[in-house]
Amino acid sequence: MIRHLLSSADLSKDDAVLILDTAEELLSVASRPIKKLPTLRGRTVVNLFFEDSTRTRISFEAAAKRLSADVINFSSKGSSVSKGESLKDTALTLQAMGADAVVIRHGSSGAPHRLAHASWINGAIINAGDGSHEHPTQALLDAFTMRRHLGDLDGRRVTIVGDVLHSRVARSNALLLSILGADVTLVAPPTLLPVGVDSWPVQTSYELDGALDKADVVMMLRVQGERMNDAFFPSAREYSRRYGLDTRRMRRLPEHAIVMHPGPMNRGMEITADVADSARSVIVEQVTNGVAVRMAVLYLLLSGSTDAESTEAREEA
Ligand code: NCD
Repeated sequence: MIRHLLSSADLSKDDAVLILDTAEELLSVASRPIKKLPTLRGRTVVNLFFEDSTRTRISFEAAAKRLSADVINFSSKGSSVSKGESLKDTALTLQAMGADAVVIRHGSSGAPHRLAHASWINGAIINAGDGSHEHPTQALLDAFTMRRHLGDLDGRRVTIVGDVLHSRVARSNALLLSILGADVTLVAPPTLLPVGVDSWPVQTSYELDGALDKADVVMMLRVQGERMNDAFFPSAREYSRRYGLDTRRMRRLPEHAIVMHPGPMNRGMEITADVADSARSVIVEQVTNGVAVRMAVLYLLLSGSTDAESTEAREEA
């Protein structure tokens, strides 16, 4: 198993399947009256969040607590980051407190890689979303959710729609799904597809209707207003008309197809409320599955070695 989880591309197919299979076993813990295992007792997990988050932060916290780890939550708001403290000094502080794993969300692409490669921290680094770059545990929970509904993902068709340009979820999903053998089609207006998308393992289209008829999964992406400093489409209405999922469009999907969204949703923009709340939507299930998948990631990265062992291993390397 890998030492850090920075990108979906770090995973081999065997690693990814091991995480998904482990998550499957851990999912049952969530349905017990007492939702706790002693596996990570005495280990410390730090949630280091420099960007806003509801689901991901709570999910990592629940996952670590269900494995009996000690959890320290750090949010840059209200911390010394607002006094200008650097990532390095923040990291050294966490190391001094004995962090075994650091879950980091940061507005800058590459921040988790910097933490992992600068040796400021001995523990495992888990990327919980860096800028518009990657969000590998979201991709894992999405793949987990797909697999529960569709079985093996080999040859399955996944259509990912919307603001691909700003979406770390889209990139991490495209990479992971191709590792798992699924066929991914990205649908977006030309202005919301990233430069270099030709080198991604996907097909692209500017037109939604044609990409629904054969899809097993349609994943809608949030239009990320906070990352847009320009006009990427004429109006919200025009965007919804061309790229939004409404009931009429949903009828084009095959009977068994599922509708996904990583949240938070702009209801009425990329997805209508009736689609989001429909029987085909697995959006709430994604959140539940996220805890099991993050438990699996923490367990696999942390349970194998103690901090002393991982320090020795690094010194030998
Ligand atoms: C996503 C994120 O933060 O990248 N949300 C999430 O983690 N559930 C997607 C988004 O913000 O649109």
